[in-house]
Amino acid sequence: DFAVALEMIHTYSLIHDDLPCMDNDDMRRGKPSCHKKFGEDTALLAGDALLTESFKLAANADTEASLKAKAISVLADRAGIDGMIGGQVMDLLFELQKPDLEKLEDMYSKKTGALLSAAAEIGCILGGATEDKINLASAFALKVGLAFQIIDDILDVIGDEKLLGKPIGSDAQNNKTTVATLLGVTKAQELSKTLTDEAIDILDKFEGDTSALKELTKFLLNRKF
Ligand code: IPE
Ligand code: MG
Ligand code: MG
Ligand code: MG
Repeated sequence: DFAVALEMIHTYSLIHDDLPCMDNDDMRRGKPSCHKKFGEDTALLAGDALLTESFKLAANADTEASLKAKAISVLADRAGIDGMIGGQVMDLLFELQKPDLEKLEDMYSKKTGALLSAAAEIGCILGGATEDKINLASAFALKVGLAFQIIDDILDVIGDEKLLGKPIGSDAQNNKTTVATLLGVTKAQELSKTLTDEAIDILDKFEGDTSALKELTKFLLNRKF
């Protein structure tokens, strides 16, 4: 239930991110974006509905009450002003005030890393993991989130629209500074590789079998979509 709730929040964030008042993008996942197909009014409400329903789903999950309450609190924190929404606000501010690398990384940790860290932490919380392990999982997710967003930036410059399923050049059009525009594509690729290696090193601190997560982390680095 929490995995679905997170995917609903993620989808809502993208529907609103594509709106004309935000990034004004016409394509998403290889199809017309929600407002293109259904209108801005419906896209706005679809996002609102996904967000609200996600919390209903989480609240109704068949899980031990105190763990569930903790998980819902993490979900709200990472989706909210200290998480994804806060990152999106910084993203808008940085169209006006050019950020340095440190500020960009802070913004990415929120707009992209926060929901990933919620996924990692909630899995640990519901599995009854120790605080130590929850923190490690969160650190892993933040590294993956940063690498993921830097690759997203790179693909916005050199990606193939057909593979990507969304427009390239969107960041330039919106006057966004990204890690790819700030450092150049080559340095940005190096940084995402370093972050990926660091994420994989964190996985080595878990006793269980993390090979699938390692494969996924490496796959994300080399993705073209
Ligand atoms: C948005 O980042 C991240 C969200 C919180 C939705 P981008 O604006 O770079 O995402 P894309 O490139 O439109 O997918
Ligand atoms: Mg955006
Ligand atoms: Mg966007
Ligand atoms: Mg992008």
